[in-house]
Amino acid sequence: MSAHWRKKQSQDRYFRQAKEEGYRARSAFKLIQMNQTFKLIRHGDRVLDLGAAPGSWSQVAHELVGPEGQVIALDIAAMEPIPGVMILQGDMNSPQVQEEISKAAGGEMDVVLCDAAPSVSGLRDRDHALSIELAESALHVARQLLRPGGSLVVKVFEGESFPAYLQEVRRSFATVKPHRPSASREESREIYVVARGYKR
Ligand SMILES: C[S@@+](CC[C@H](N)C(=O)[O-])C[C@H]1O[C@@H](n2cnc3c(N)ncnc32)[C@H](O)[C@@H]1O
Repeated sequence: MSAHWRKKQSQDRYFRQAKEEGYRARSAFKLIQMNQTFKLIRHGDRVLDLGAAPGSWSQVAHELVGPEGQVIALDIAAMEPIPGVMILQGDMNSPQVQEEISKAAGGEMDVVLCDAAPSVSGLRDRDHALSIELAESALHVARQLLRPGGSLVVKVFEGESFPAYLQEVRRSFATVKPHRPSASREESREIYVVARGYKR
């Protein structure tokens, strides 16, 4: 049995498991795994989920924060409602939309998540540049909204600007780790930046 075969099998397992557990996407398990590793989201937290559709990360975040917490989800696409989650629609790269997010938040957040991804063209450099643009917007929003000590998790398609992005995140957070959850597809170029201990 090759390692490739074993990984494919377990990825099909995530797809099935997501259906069984009522999550809207298999990506749910990436957040569940990262939260187990890094203890990012706690009961009572306020969480902002950027690039949230169809909504599995928001479902997971909502379960983790419980009724005392709050989850705000934003996507450029329309999203089916999730009971207990505030849903906004707009382009996270737009300054007006970033302003709307701040207004909706109405105060500091404990965690900012960003699983946003551009529509993939297959042109490696282009997809990377668009992904970095989204990741920069997530960092900008996090700098506006996170409480000191808060966390940011952001997806990036790897490429030449990744080291510079990582360095920029390091300016604002005490601990920054690039991380690939095992629920990520093997062929994917995505990597998550897990940044904790926000410093103003
Ligand atoms: C991989 S999906 C997110 C999956 C989600 N985390 C989940 O678990 O259901 C990436 C999302 O990023 C969104 N997106 C892409 N560009 C965006 C932008 N400029 N502003 C907001 N959302 C964006 C897409 O519409 C898509 O829904």
